Amino acid sequence: PVPRPLAGKRVLITAGPTHEPIDPVRYIANRSSGKQGFAIAAAAQAAGAEVILVSGPVDLDDPQGVTVKHVESARQMLEQVQAALPADIAIFAAAVADWRVANEGDQKLKKTSAGMPPLQLVENPDILATISKLTDKRPPLVIGFAAETEHLIDNAKSKLARKGCDWIVANDVSPATGVMGGDRNTVHLISRKDGEIAVDSWPVMTKEQVAIELVAHIARSATEKPLE
Ligand code: C5P
Repeated sequence: PVPRPLAGKRVLITAGPTHEPIDPVRYIANRSSGKQGFAIAAAAQAAGAEVILVSGPVDLDDPQGVTVKHVESARQMLEQVQAALPADIAIFAAAVADWRVANEGDQKLKKTSAGMPPLQLVENPDILATISKLTDKRPPLVIGFAAETEHLIDNAKSKLARKGCDWIVANDVSPATGVMGGDRNTVHLISRKDGEIAVDSWPVMTKEQVAIELVAHIARSATEKPLE
């Protein structure tokens, strides 16, 4: 029989970029492809989990056997994440836009002689931090991602503390790595062990292999201590 180490577990995953509207036809976005989050969803599903994937706009097919909620903006993503709780494991792989446009236009902005329209930005909700800090419905295992272009490990360690999650998957997204939009990823798993912060650096792998490894780690930690 196929091993199904996550059978009976409900896994919530975010993936992809978010699109933050400027007006009805324009938006602010980023280069996330959603590939890593989708690969994690497929790997968790293959491991027997019930998977809910909340995805921003991506050019990928929905993984088979996974419930997919398609959203555009960070605020819609937070809403769908909250609606999907409770979960045993939450993995926040989305590249959520940090800011959205405060003065979103109802109509397409026009060129005028008055010059360029000022875009006022306001901060988006931090979905990972919001869910990590829940007291009632906090999933027992909350995993965040840290995409950095410099000081990868140090930034990821402070992110673990600041966001209040249990693990951080840190990856170097400098343009030279080709990680953003590419098929490979080099990650470091940062977790708390006996009050210390542990860093586990993995070799370069495909995003599918990273997903399978991460799911294997989750399954091992779930058998060490029950997630309920
Ligand atoms: O602070 P930073 O954006 O680098 O943190 C990355 C982690 O936080 C990722 O797991 C990402 O999915 C999550 N995040 C979020 N909501 C935001 C910003 C980031 O869930 N508004």
